[in-house]
Amino acid sequence: MTYSEGRNIFREKLKSLFEVNEIDFYFKTVLQSIFNIEQTALALSPTKLFNENQKRELEKVLKQLLQEQPLQYIIGKAYFRSLTLTVNSSVLIPRPETEELVNWVLEDHQNLEEKQTLIDFGTGSGCIAIALAKEQPSFEVTAIDFYSSVLNLAKQNAIKNKTSVSFLQHDILQLNTLKLNVDIIVSNPPYIPPSEQREMKPNVLNYEPHLALFVPENDPLIFYRSILEYGLLYLVSDGLIYFEINPRFLSEMKSLILSFKVYSILERKDIFGKLRMLRVQKK
Ligand SMILES: C[S@@+](CC[C@H](N)C(=O)[O-])C[C@H]1O[C@@H](n2cnc3c(N)ncnc32)[C@H](O)[C@@H]1O
Repeated sequence: MTYSEGRNIFREKLKSLFEVNEIDFYFKTVLQSIFNIEQTALALSPTKLFNENQKRELEKVLKQLLQEQPLQYIIGKAYFRSLTLTVNSSVLIPRPETEELVNWVLEDHQNLEEKQTLIDFGTGSGCIAIALAKEQPSFEVTAIDFYSSVLNLAKQNAIKNKTSVSFLQHDILQLNTLKLNVDIIVSNPPYIPPSEQREMKPNVLNYEPHLALFVPENDPLIFYRSILEYGLLYLVSDGLIYFEINPRFLSEMKSLILSFKVYSILERKDIFGKLRMLRVQKK
């Protein structure tokens, strides 16, 4: 089987699930990340042959894609800003919207003269914490998650990306036992109520960790409330909290934040035009 025949088999078998440009992207990503074959090889050497191992591996990947497994879990990697992160089904696949949240934090903290402490609540793969530690060396970053399997992966990612981040196992819903003074908080906590499941794609619903996605139907802002309460005690005055939010709960989020009487709010849209980010400042 030649490179271009392989690509055509992918196109044929996956056409009911994905657009052709998406299939081509998947095919090239698989070549690059599993076989170390340059993405340009398909155009430059379309008649080059796959060896037997590669053919078997391609069949396996095809089967996984047909089951709608996310490509990032299949190849075990996700790309986030300048980082390559190892991912598996215990962590959420980092999203482009979250890159924008990181961007907002960096924009606001360009020329720092002093160290700033920063906590990332619900770190998952470590994408936010590691990107911020890497791109702004004046941040002293602590990354928190509840699950040890998640933290182990995030730690590996920090090492792989040569960044210094402190990792801490802690429950966001039990912050009364955490006592870290902090200048900046960033969080993309779980924010999807179960009723939204019916609008979600199988690749997310069937493969991504539900503990990272879902919140109780009757209290969808539970994580934000806990973090805002923590901020009352441990965030410095004028300190900032950056949240990724569920656009559906924008007005409830604003009411919650303002109910504390010490916070002001700035909102920002993501690249898809959705109001997905809030910056909260403690007065
Ligand atoms: C939406 S994911 C975000 C992951 C990562 N920060 C990102 O942006 O891709 C939420 C994270 O919160 C963690 N989490 C869920 N419940 C938690 C809890 N009670 N305490 C601490 N972390 C929790 C999950 O393990 C998951 O990693």
